[in-house]
Amino acid sequence: MDAVVDRAVKPEAAPQRTPVPPFDLVIFGASGDLALRKLFPALAQRNQEGVLPEESRILAVVRKSEDMTGLPEAIGAKLAGSGLSRDRVETFLSRLTMVQVDAVRPETYGRLMQALGESERVRSFYLSTPPDLFIPICENLAAAGILTPTSRVILEKPLGRDLASARAINDAVAAILPEDRTYRIDHYLGKETVQNLLVLRFANTLFERSWSSRDIDNVQITVAETVGLEARAGYYDKAGHLRDMVQNHVLQLLCLFAIEPPNTLEADAVRDEKVRVLKALRPIVGPDVLRATVRGQYGPGMEGGKRVSGYAEELGQASDTETFVSIRCELDTWRWAGVPIYLRTGKRMPQRYSEIAVTFKPVPHSIFGGGGSGSGRLDANRLVIRLQPDDGVQLQLMMKVPGSGKLKIVPRQLDLRYETAFGVRSPDAYERLLTDVIRGDQTLFMRRDEVEQAWAWIDPILAGWQEFYPQPHRYAAGSWGPSQAIGLIERDGRSWADPDFDE
Ligand code: BG6
Repeated sequence: MDAVVDRAVKPEAAPQRTPVPPFDLVIFGASGDLALRKLFPALAQRNQEGVLPEESRILAVVRKSEDMTGLPEAIGAKLAGSGLSRDRVETFLSRLTMVQVDAVRPETYGRLMQALGESERVRSFYLSTPPDLFIPICENLAAAGILTPTSRVILEKPLGRDLASARAINDAVAAILPEDRTYRIDHYLGKETVQNLLVLRFANTLFERSWSSRDIDNVQITVAETVGLEARAGYYDKAGHLRDMVQNHVLQLLCLFAIEPPNTLEADAVRDEKVRVLKALRPIVGPDVLRATVRGQYGPGMEGGKRVSGYAEELGQASDTETFVSIRCELDTWRWAGVPIYLRTGKRMPQRYSEIAVTFKPVPHSIFGGGGSGSGRLDANRLVIRLQPDDGVQLQLMMKVPGSGKLKIVPRQLDLRYETAFGVRSPDAYERLLTDVIRGDQTLFMRRDEVEQAWAWIDPILAGWQEFYPQPHRYAAGSWGPSQAIGLIERDGRSWADPDFDE
């Protein structure tokens, strides 16, 4: 990752990185939900900014012949709907090459070979497909002689559905491409605030000195979404929320929050430290799942003022798949011993928001008597690192109310929102990550051992659920999950730090 220090960043003075070299980007699963919602818009945005070299190409791989014309129309409609001008949409579409390949039929790869032709451009293959296609696609690309010595492959999460399947994928891919050309994507690592976690911690002495059990009471990581199943029943009902969100996004946030200082920003230095965090996660085994985890599934309820169906209704059948997970975990290290880390993530929550809330220990003795917050106590300082919406950082401090004759003390926030502070929009995570692949920067991608270590912690939870906790608790859509999730934290005498939006 390039680091550029700018002491007075003006909106127009966004730091420049090394130029993106000419490339061919091949997207498998191009007609899928992710490609349409995220990949093409991210590329169109980059195209508009002039970041993609003229001679570069984007090849969209589709299986059905009707998608050869249908997909460009769908992409055009999607981009026009996101506010891109007609000209810009047309320019972007003119860069697309449609190729019809059936991922599991080797004889169809000749078309891709032909479309790519002979070129010196960096070839990147984005496998935006279910993980069971990763091995056949890599094998077929190799057998067709399409992979060049600089080709890269990008694997979407979740990588497998447990440790064994993740290992099988990693082994098969490693037989074809080396680790330094394998990019395991977790788009949360491309979010600005997530990258800023490293800066916040390691470019400021202020926090790093208190970043341990000495000063921190507890940490809460919340990733809440308002959306439900969407059009992803086939994938999501088999995966469930633990595999879909915790194994990757939530654990990555936990890693970056908790890592020891890497000695450089080199990809492997950062990833070595992340693996150490994952190894230090105390396993949750057997009946412990009943004490340390909560599974939930949303039923009917109200979302944004509208009545919405429950998960089973959306799916069209009963299911034991969880759409909400909460976990109390601990890291067995000197730094973190005794600091509970509460994870909470779910679909159909009242608000879309993701944050890391760090609650510091209370002052050892209050000299203010009953002056705090009207409750007779001082609220502990809290640092909130918010990913979305309104990405930024808030620090809650206790302050005296001006003019209060009798000393009145209340909590107030130092509130730094990126958009206001820098005057620029935060790029979408995929915009950053796609160009990182082409530049050959692996810092924000997961290494093989990281993914496997994350599964090694998740697997016992899955096994424990199967044996001791097969049915998720119900919660109403539009609520903060099952009441058991409140119980999980209240048992420790704490409560969830719910969002405090101005709007
Ligand atoms: C994806 C999950 O990886 O992340 C989805 O598969 C989820 O289920 C999405 O909705 C959330 O991403 P974001 O960036 O909208 O928070």
